[in-house]
Amino acid sequence: MTSETNHRGLTTREVQDNPFPYYREQMAKCPVWREDDINLYVIAGHEEARAALGDLKTFSSKPAAGNRAVKPEVVMAYMKVLEEKGWMHTPILQRVDPPEHGRARKILNRVFTPAQVKAYVPEIEEITHGLVDSMLARGECEFVKEFALPLPGKFIARHLGLNDAEYPRFRRWAEAMLSLAQRNDMTVEEAIVEANIEVEEQHFVVAEFEKRRMNPGGTDLISLIVHAHGEDEEPFTTTELITLMHQLITGGFETTTGALSAAMVLLLRHPDQMQMLRDDRSLMPNFIEEVLRYDAPVQGLWRSVTCPVNVAGVDIPEKSAAMVRYGAANRDPRVFDKPDEFDIRRPNAKNHISFGFGVHFCLGAALARQQMSSAFHILLDRVTEIELAAPLEYPMYDRSFFLRPLRELHLRVR
Ligand code: HEM
Repeated sequence: MTSETNHRGLTTREVQDNPFPYYREQMAKCPVWREDDINLYVIAGHEEARAALGDLKTFSSKPAAGNRAVKPEVVMAYMKVLEEKGWMHTPILQRVDPPEHGRARKILNRVFTPAQVKAYVPEIEEITHGLVDSMLARGECEFVKEFALPLPGKFIARHLGLNDAEYPRFRRWAEAMLSLAQRNDMTVEEAIVEANIEVEEQHFVVAEFEKRRMNPGGTDLISLIVHAHGEDEEPFTTTELITLMHQLITGGFETTTGALSAAMVLLLRHPDQMQMLRDDRSLMPNFIEEVLRYDAPVQGLWRSVTCPVNVAGVDIPEKSAAMVRYGAANRDPRVFDKPDEFDIRRPNAKNHISFGFGVHFCLGAALARQQMSSAFHILLDRVTEIELAAPLEYPMYDRSFFLRPLRELHLRVR
């Protein structure tokens, strides 16, 4: 095992804070490499990543290989609490392969439709206006905690039946639910604390599912999910619903926060492009795609290798852990001209793979894009001056093996 002082890899703080120079360096040698300290194969090239995501027999979503960045005793301590006091997660949706994957996905596709996302626009706009009201009233804000977190957070929390004042409780649940994947330095004691918080969330949502089973007809996301099965389909069990909520919350909350934060940082760093977007709002969809390309909110996700395979000349043994690194694929110079330049007019920005690719393509992509679009239309309409109130200094991000949790972004606004 190499120490953090002389090792440069995905587990180090420096690379997590700004992984792009590391990707560039590695990809210049080969689009696939092994992270020796955690025995992980990284698939970073755009073509190689798409091929792996399309080859579901070789690259399985079943978590057999697991997150090797977290110690097994930490995972076991967490799971023991769920087993004893709450519910263990069940293999479904993101954690299974076809044909198993298809059942839940088919039912959920009926909920996450473009029409449904459109129906939520007034609510997204109302939450956004409320957040902009507060920042304008004060003339300043810490954008992450006062905008990028509460916009998607309050949206999901409301759908769970919480009011806006209860949003901090939801936020703590989400933090706990992400901890095992996010924090590769967590101790056993910390894991027990986090697992107990997830158990609290589980008991809360189980009661909410029950209410919606008794009172069909609601239009909130949870009601729709509980009742989305067809007459000839098995409804989701309580354990399945608990796991689906886990995937929706961990997949839909801080990811969108990352996208909103990245968008604001990039506009501040490129004032000419902020002006361009203010002047020509038809650039908004491509701005959103370029943000997602340039700074993928999910930098990478796990796959388990089911049989020996050779990718880009690298032999990957059976039972290896692999990680498709979306954040690196989006900077692949074979696909994107001058990949390290941010350009809201980039013609092929939408070829990024920040929402994944293939059967597991993000269920909430349209919802996330809508939240980004509503957020920046309203911000640019109502806030005529936005500037940094404190410099962005290293470390800019909290530690994370796969997300981009910006620590803080202090703004002066008018
Ligand atoms: C900018 C924000 C988001 C990003 C970058 C993002 C990214 C991703 C990625 C990369 C995947 C592929 C996972 C895989 O292949 O294993 C995925 C899947 C998924 N996402 Fe998102 N996501 C975002 C927002 C959301 C939202 C808002 C929701 C729901 C409220 C959501 C729910 C899901 C679910 C349930 C899956 C699993 C789908 C499946 O396995 O069939 N995501 N997302």
